[in-house]
This record gives sequence, structure tokens and C-alpha cells, in this order.
Amino acid sequence: MCGIIGYIGSKPATPFLMEGLRRMEYRGYDSAGIAILDGATLVTRRAAGKIAKLEASLAAAPVAGHVGIGHTRWATHGPPTERNAHPHLSADDTVAVVHNGIIENANALRTALQDTGYVFRSDTDTEVVAHLVQELFDGSLEEAVIMALRKIEGTYGLAVVSSRDPGKIVVARKGSPLLIGIGEHEHFVASDASAILAHTRQVVYLDDGDVAVLEADGYRVLDIDALPLTRKVDKIDWELGAIERGGFAHFMLKEIFEQPQTVENTMRGRLIVEDGTSKLGGINLTHDQLMAIDNIIITACGTSWHSALIGEMMIEELCRIPVEVEYASEFRYRNPIVTDRTLCIVISQSGETADTLAAMREAKRRGARTLGLVNVVGSTIAREDDGGIYLHAGPEIGVASTKAFTSQVVALALFTLKLARKRGLSVTRGMEFAQALAALPAQIQQVLDRAEQVEHIAAEFKRAPNFLYLGRGVNFPVALEGALKLKEISYIHAEGYPAAEMKHGPIALIDEMMPVVFVAPHDAVFDKVVSNVQEVKARKGNIIAITSRDEPALQGLVDYEFRIPETVDLLTPILASVPLQLLAYYIAVQRGANVDQPRNLAKSVTVE
Ligand code: M6R
Repeated sequence: MCGIIGYIGSKPATPFLMEGLRRMEYRGYDSAGIAILDGATLVTRRAAGKIAKLEASLAAAPVAGHVGIGHTRWATHGPPTERNAHPHLSADDTVAVVHNGIIENANALRTALQDTGYVFRSDTDTEVVAHLVQELFDGSLEEAVIMALRKIEGTYGLAVVSSRDPGKIVVARKGSPLLIGIGEHEHFVASDASAILAHTRQVVYLDDGDVAVLEADGYRVLDIDALPLTRKVDKIDWELGAIERGGFAHFMLKEIFEQPQTVENTMRGRLIVEDGTSKLGGINLTHDQLMAIDNIIITACGTSWHSALIGEMMIEELCRIPVEVEYASEFRYRNPIVTDRTLCIVISQSGETADTLAAMREAKRRGARTLGLVNVVGSTIAREDDGGIYLHAGPEIGVASTKAFTSQVVALALFTLKLARKRGLSVTRGMEFAQALAALPAQIQQVLDRAEQVEHIAAEFKRAPNFLYLGRGVNFPVALEGALKLKEISYIHAEGYPAAEMKHGPIALIDEMMPVVFVAPHDAVFDKVVSNVQEVKARKGNIIAITSRDEPALQGLVDYEFRIPETVDLLTPILASVPLQLLAYYIAVQRGANVDQPRNLAKSVTVE
């Protein structure tokens, strides 16, 4: 969603701001802009649409200055036009503001400011902040921002500059992530570490309620009463290459191909094959606490919700503990049954998804312990959960989640293994599961080595207007995930369904125009799936099957087949999801879609 970048130092600000905006493009946006202090004047450049348009406007009329802020906007209040693009200026053009989040009392503040003569130039909630800071300014920008924040209700990551108090950027965080980057005689602010990684790895993650003042030679963190706070300096440990395409046509393809390594990284130092268990240092759950769990709720959104469904089946099968999976957006608004013996597992690649974060807070409020499965280090969910398992999949830039999904399933498998062994799973069964986990990286590589086969299948079906994905048991969530991948990047309508449930409605859709993808590895429900394949064939559907061995029962029924290696039933989703990621990718590319930045989507959904 929206992205914030700011620079203060001795070098020209524009290149830093533009590079930061480029690095945040993957998050999804529909307009962009910058504001730079050029001597005593604040100069803004804004453009609707892609950053290239902003770059063109800067090339035509460059802006000098060593202090500046920039923003990519994903429209919420008002359409994605230039007048609604950030930064927003105060009425007297002395204050510029960029903002992520939503100011809930913007209408009331707007009316009050209009009554005192302020004229608004945009439809955004953010503009009230610029006018408020102007109104409250009395010599110190941080004091004016703090006074303005006291009047604001809602969520914000904010960066503010003013020509009346030039050598500083004032930033504030409540419910929307911000970090400070520490350089040599220069400082950065960003909502996403990737925006500044090329310049520094030393960062301070701000907490909700923090206000910070950045100057070229230092920074101060304050609370809302302007009292100084101490925040620790962290080090970002990924390489720049992790956020670059490295020879791949798209980030999504790179991330699909990284999965042998990312799955390995999720397991590294955690899987203990010889004891048939796992070691998870960060979960902060004692033996007694693990034994005391009565029920588990897993909450998440989108792809992370699909991995939760797989986790449910793993935990119930091996630990015999009841598990419920909840859409985070629904969980927070109903009256769930949660006790102090409930474990709430929260899954999020970004660690910033607003609904997931709110669901976690709700579960905590109701007395549950929370366990976060998060990829982005230092993200809000990772900082607020009671314990966690980092995925260690590295930055995921493609909007369509791929490597995070397989790492989530692996992290769930590691947790299941640990809990199951505590709760009575035999060493022998634990070792069998652990050995199967250990074999996954090489098996994923075997799938990737045959990516061309999937590309060929994609060419056959790239013009299909609809797709149906069917699977049973632990592979029903894989069908959902395959359908989600296809629809989000190719814009083909696709539905995932439990294969047998098809008879209760979707079967009406099947004719010779309908491709049906069966996720059909040789598992406990394979024979049942064959019956469903026959039902589709009888209605002339085009069948693409993901199988794991030469199946005589499928001969003559399947039009296209892709074979995955065999593994234990509960881990088949990891191998079966990879060809479906490739299928979605190749279809989208062949249709000329913008794979890494699909329309209307944001990488991290930080609004409700
Ligand atoms: O960062 P999160 O895992 O919390 O994100 C959840 C969903 O927004 C995300 O998985 C979304 O569905 C992706 N576009 C899927 O590819």
C-alpha cells in the first residue's frame, strides 16, 4: 500500500527519494510525489499513475535541496489524481506532509479548519495534518506536530517538513510502520526497509506513539509529551540482491525459483531429524504451556489463510488438538470462544496486515497466547506477539505471495512436529515426518527443473476465461491457493473448491471450455479424487492434473499431467503448490499482464 521515504543530509535529496519510491513500487500504488526544501522554499512534484511520470516531471524541472520527503499513494480517500497525491501542503505552503493510514476524524477537523478560513486543495484525510501543523506552529516543528497529533484520531505513519523550521524531518507512528535509517551525516525515514537498504543497514524501528526528529547529524525519539525515549538500533541482515530481480524477468519468478533455499532457510537449525522433532527458540512456550493448550485458532488473510488451513489439518492429525481457522477480518468482529488455554497462531508475510494485526490484538485481549508466523523482521505483528517463528524467506517483493506460502507451511509443520512429539507422537512417526521435511528443498528443485512443462500447459489455456481448481483433504487449500494466484495476476476468474463439493453446484459450469485443475497426488483420498475426475471428464471438461506417480486410474481421463515427487500426505501441499504458482505466472506473462504489480492490489494491506 502507501509508502513513505524521507532524506536529510548533505547530498541532494531527490535521487534518494526517487530510488526509495522505486524500491517501494512493489507495494502497490496509484500516484506518487515528493517535497523538497529548496533553501527557504518547499517545492513539490506529484503525478498520478506510475513513478515514471513523476521522474519525467522532475527531469523537465529538477528540484535541488538536501531535505525531502516522498510518498507512493494507494487511494483510499479520493481518487488517484495528482491533486490527491502526497505530499500535501499547508495553506501557506510552509508545511509538507506524507501520511500512511487513515485519519478517522478528518471530516470534523476539516470542517473546523474550514470555519477558520483554511481552503482545502485535495479530497484526502491527510491534508488536515498539514493545516493543523501550520495552525499550531510556534517556532518548533516537533512541538507543532505533537500538538496536531493530540487532535488526530486514527492511524498514521507521518513525515513532515517545514520551511519555517528547515534542518529537520519530524516523523510519527501509530498503527502504520516507520523506521529510521542511520547513515554518515545523513538520516532516512521509510515505511519499508527496502527503500533505504542500499544506503544503510542500521535502523531504528519506531513503536506506536513514537515521534522522532531527524537531522543530518542525529535523531531523537520522543513520546507524545515530548519526553525523550531510547530505542534500540537494529541491523537489517539481508543483502541488496534480495530485493533485486537478479536476472529473472519478474520478482515473482525469482521468488518461485528461490523456494529450495527459502524452505531450507525456514528449517535451518530448527529441524532435528534424528529425534523426530524441532527446536523453535522464539515461541516462548514452556513444556507446561504446550501441554496446557486446549484449542488453537489460526487467523490470517489471503494466501496466509490458505497456509492456515493446511496447518489446521497438520495439527489436528498429528497433535489431536482442535483447530479453527478464521479470516482475520471476520474474527475481530464476532464473539469467538477464547480462553487462557487457547493458542492463537497469527500468520502474515508482511507482519503488517491491518486485519491480522487487529485479530491478534483481539485474541490477546480475550486472554489467548499468541504465536506469530511472520516473514518481515521487526514488523508490528512480530513485535507484538507473545512468541514467534520467523519464516526467514527473505524479502518477498512480488505482490503474489509464493515463497512466503511454502515457508509458512513449513513453519507450521515444524511447530506441529514439536507440539505433536510433546503430546504423544512416537519418535518413529516424528522421524518419518522430519525426514520428509528435510527432503523438500531437493524435491522442490526437481519440480522447478521441469518448469518448461508448465509453461507449455499455460500456452494451451492462456485464453480461458474461467478456471476451476479442485482438491481434497490437505490439498483443498492448495486448490484455493492455485485459484487465487491465477486470478490475482492474470485476471482470469478462477475458483477453488473441494473436489467432491463440485457436484453441489460448480459442476453446472463444466463444459469443453472449462479447464479444471485437479490437485491429485497419491494420498489417502486419491481414489476419491479419481471419481471426481471422471465426473468432470464425462462433461467434457479439460483436465490438468498434478499427480505424484504413474496412475493407471487416470489414463484416458487427463489431458495434461504434471508429476511432483512423492512425500508424506501432509506435506504434499508444498510440492503441489509450486507448479500452480508457475501455471499462474506463465499464463499471466503470456497474457501480457503486469505480474509483479497487478492492478488494484497492494503487497501489504494496511487498511481495514
Ligand atoms: O502479508 P500477509 O501475509 O498478511 O498478507 C495477506 C494477504 O494480503 C496476501 O497473502 C494476499 O492475499 C496476496 N496477494 C496473495 O498472493
